Amino acid sequence: MPPTSFFINNNNDSQKALHLAHVAVIGGLHLAPISSDARILDVGTGSGIWSIEMARSMPNSKVVGIDIINPPPYPNQPSNCLFTVCDATKRFPFPDHAFSFIHVCYFSLAVHRGKWKKFLEECRRITCPGGWIEIHATDYQYHRTGGSGRMVNWNSQMLLGKMNDAGYTQIQRQVYTHPLGSWSGPVGSVLRDCCKIRLNNLLVPVARFFLSPDRIIELENCITEMVEEANDMRSYYHSYTYVAQIPEDEAVEGIGITF
Ligand SMILES: C[S@@+](CC[C@H](N)C(=O)[O-])C[C@H]1O[C@@H](n2cnc3c(N)ncnc32)[C@H](O)[C@@H]1O
Repeated sequence: MPPTSFFINNNNDSQKALHLAHVAVIGGLHLAPISSDARILDVGTGSGIWSIEMARSMPNSKVVGIDIINPPPYPNQPSNCLFTVCDATKRFPFPDHAFSFIHVCYFSLAVHRGKWKKFLEECRRITCPGGWIEIHATDYQYHRTGGSGRMVNWNSQMLLGKMNDAGYTQIQRQVYTHPLGSWSGPVGSVLRDCCKIRLNNLLVPVARFFLSPDRIIELENCITEMVEEANDMRSYYHSYTYVAQIPEDEAVEGIGITF
């Protein structure tokens, strides 16, 4: 498995574009029915834009964004939003039940396949009774493509099983279709550009661990071909959203976080 550092995406323009396209596809910043004074953790915050927008749209909430690298400085960062650098695959530097909403977006490659249960148990530890977790992921399976047959396919079904193992209840799963290319309008164009950046910045470096130089060239050609054909082929991929709640009646000793 590649180390986490290969999943660090410091291309902020592409992260912001991907965020806007993602919000357009799911129809908002979040799905879980959280309260206006929620204590929110954004795991793998990236550009930090989701945290900032949440803090602005819910001024009575408190939002903490964590990432292995600092997001860029924001002018007029809301006072109810802060960022902390930490490795989210280790124990979180927060007390039990500190948050009422954990948001995990496009983070699945950062967690080793065998470590998801532990990661979700950590999320559960820091979520208060009645609190929510929302995970967005994609399986990196591109549909209706000409040249994507050799792409790595990450099976997002795995997430559902791991969440069950970790003791979450009321898990709801939704599937969203993300178009690639202008065939579906401007969101599709943004998603297609992001897809090319993501595959070249993420998949190719990881593939270097496993493939010969000749096969890497083949993979790069495959990416170019797939992206160029996306409009004619009306290509798309899916994202999967998992929303789950911690049982309300769970016994609790300490609660909350202050900042
Ligand atoms: C694809 S980006 C997603 C950013 C943002 N959540 C979004 O949806 O736009 C993944 C983020 O996870 C961060 N990351 C990777 N490994 C990490 C780790 N072990 N701990 C914390 N953050 C990590 C990367 O730095 C990157 O910002």
